[in-house]
Amino acid sequence: MAEMAEMDKIISLAKRRGFVFQGSEIYEGLGGCWDYGPLGVELKRNVKEAWWSAVVRNRDDMVGLDCTILMHPMVWKASGHVDEFSDPMVDCRQCKRRFRAEDVEGACPVCGGELTPPRRFNLMFKTQVGPVEEDAATTYLRPETAQGIFVNFANVVNASRVRIPFGIAQTGKSFRNEITPRNFTFRTREFEQMEIEFFVRPGEDDAWYERWRDDRFRWYLDLGIREENLRLRDHDPEELAHYAKACVDVEYRFPFGWAELEGVANRTDYDLRRHQIGMRSLPRWVEADGDTSKVDLAAEGADWSEGPLSYFDDASKSRYVPYVIEPSAGADRATLAFFCDAYHEEEVRGDRRTVLKFHPRLAPVKAAIFPLIKKEGMPEIARKIHADVKSRFSAFYDERGAIGRRYRRQDEAGTPFCFTVDGTTLEDGTVTVRDRDTMDQIRIPAEGVAAYVQERI
Ligand code: GAP
Repeated sequence: MAEMAEMDKIISLAKRRGFVFQGSEIYEGLGGCWDYGPLGVELKRNVKEAWWSAVVRNRDDMVGLDCTILMHPMVWKASGHVDEFSDPMVDCRQCKRRFRAEDVEGACPVCGGELTPPRRFNLMFKTQVGPVEEDAATTYLRPETAQGIFVNFANVVNASRVRIPFGIAQTGKSFRNEITPRNFTFRTREFEQMEIEFFVRPGEDDAWYERWRDDRFRWYLDLGIREENLRLRDHDPEELAHYAKACVDVEYRFPFGWAELEGVANRTDYDLRRHQIGMRSLPRWVEADGDTSKVDLAAEGADWSEGPLSYFDDASKSRYVPYVIEPSAGADRATLAFFCDAYHEEEVRGDRRTVLKFHPRLAPVKAAIFPLIKKEGMPEIARKIHADVKSRFSAFYDERGAIGRRYRRQDEAGTPFCFTVDGTTLEDGTVTVRDRDTMDQIRIPAEGVAAYVQERI
């Protein structure tokens, strides 16, 4: 109960300070859809940038990609999503509500009515491509970004100088018609993923799986998640997705309990092989009756002995379909975890404050600049500092209200540093820096503000 009260407070702060709003709120909302407000969009952007910087920019063995949300329907047939991407659900015969079978026992949790036996419910959103509403035009909003990477594997190998082991990373929206979206932005119907498909030589997959598991776990700690709130949980064999040889979840201790932030899976060569089979069902293949010599091969220079999505390894002089290690994270879940972990209520000198102790790299606003009072030239100096800092970091200027209130507002926004122009500034050109976490204040030269922020993030 206390945990849920904590979650309610977090949700309330998120709305009050403009991190997250209910989607379509003026029309009473749309289930499982949330919008990011002015502070939330900066926070989530910083989370995605920290991820991109760690997995793409700071590595030599990763390239990026940005695929479409709409893809050929065969992608989802070949990947197994059309047939397998479903949750067992039950309906209440009395009140007609629908639940995930794993969430309920016996009778309806709402009215006590009798439940139907579990039935499978596909989670993909169907949509029509083009003006004609017929079967041939039906496709799906992608339920994961991963497939866009697999179908571009040959393109990336041919177009860049990547050699195995290497990875392809992508961030982007995914859609799932979740039966019971819940826990704020934790389980939603539209969300953003940050996915890597890391291609390795078969036989080297177990070692790479362990490396990625450890790397991804450390990423959350490096960005400030407290160690006691993070753990790894191996999947039991019966829990594994249809494509996975092994999978481990990075879990965070949310106020509503331990829950998955990211899965690291060994997807073997399942997806590339499935797409090789999928390609053969295209009309030109059916007409050629499986005879490769009759087909204009799509992948230039492809060797069909192992299939068009195979890879020639210069080092071992062998051709194979690579194995894949997939660290798959949710940008919204990571953002929510950073938000929950940053949330603190503290008693300070007889006063109560709510503060978001974000890692400075993730903080939506890095610096706030205040004139102590709205006269004696202080606003002019403060605005000049603000203009200088703003050109490099997100910074906020505020001259309204008592200085203590202004600090409290920045505490609730998670701003790590507040700079105040006061009477002493006029005498010696220094400003005060107030640290969000310790609330200590020191003085530094006004022209050193931007460098001070830079050093600390
Ligand atoms: N490509 C593999 C894959 O999509 P997943 O475990 O279904 O695996 C990966 O999803 C991550 O995407 C999850 O760990 C989670 O962070 C995020 N995610 C999945 N479904 C979500 C949902 N309904 N709402 C928010 N995030 C979700």
